[in-house]
Amino acid sequence: MLRQKDVTGLYELSAEEIDEILCVAAEMKQKLRSGVKNLPDLTGRAVTTLFYENSTRTRCSFELAAKYLGAHVVNISAASSSVQKGETLVDTGKTLDAMRNDFIIIRHPMGGAPKLLGKTVKAHVINGGDGMNEHPTQALLDMLTMRETFGAVKGLKVAILGDIRHSRVAKSNLFGLKKLGAEVSVFAPRTLIPADFDKMGAKVCASREEAVDGADVVMGLRIQLERQHGGLFPSLGEYAKFYGVNEEVIKYAKPNAIVMHPGPVNRGVELTCSLIDGASSRIEDQVLSGVAVRMSVLKLLNDQEARA
Ligand code: CP
Repeated sequence: MLRQKDVTGLYELSAEEIDEILCVAAEMKQKLRSGVKNLPDLTGRAVTTLFYENSTRTRCSFELAAKYLGAHVVNISAASSSVQKGETLVDTGKTLDAMRNDFIIIRHPMGGAPKLLGKTVKAHVINGGDGMNEHPTQALLDMLTMRETFGAVKGLKVAILGDIRHSRVAKSNLFGLKKLGAEVSVFAPRTLIPADFDKMGAKVCASREEAVDGADVVMGLRIQLERQHGGLFPSLGEYAKFYGVNEEVIKYAKPNAIVMHPGPVNRGVELTCSLIDGASSRIEDQVLSGVAVRMSVLKLLNDQEARA
């Protein structure tokens, strides 16, 4: 049972709430695999995606998730909306509320924007990624793929390598994985690791081999060129050579370890092409998990309202 009106981050969700989302998502994923795309849970409900940053996976999977549950869906891109005429986030939210929207999925470059929106609208707000803060449904879908592969998240060793500093995916995964009892080790150039990441529960490693040693899951994170202002590492080529995950590095992981990446991937930078396309890659499965997890979150928030 989700307690809050909005889902803005995994920092605020309990282990029980995360577990419930994953259980419902596992059922949804099974239905999707069987070809079921016409569930009635959100019949008559209105869902708006409000994206102030580019997206393929998150926006599209939220739209499909809502449609597979029977909702009406509207998509707003800030680039082609009245935001360009100077409308504030709060005024945009009030406008969507006045149209009787039931759910707003927001992606915004500023951390905290979904929380602000949630305080000012009646609709349920779901965070589709806010700045360098959180991307909760990404971490939930990552945990769904891990849980399906290994049976449980508890006890897993998860190595995360890449641009930790600018990554909302890393933070949401750290919060969620720790709550479910996994160990998280990270590695990146020191310039790409926030100073307090160890205090948040991650093991900050001195080498990629140390991070990957004995790992069940090796997750690459995208180098976020759009959030960097230069000087944090010498070049993409050097990043790939000294910090990327390749066939030599992956040998330190467990023999049945899986390779993950939230996408979009910089091919040959965070991971080699052979790892991205290889047998241990779960990158495509993560995409299907994304639709299932977003169906689950929409359904559980809708159920919460039905109970009230
Ligand atoms: N993983 C992720 O958030 O991808 P998009 O930017 O394509 O939504």
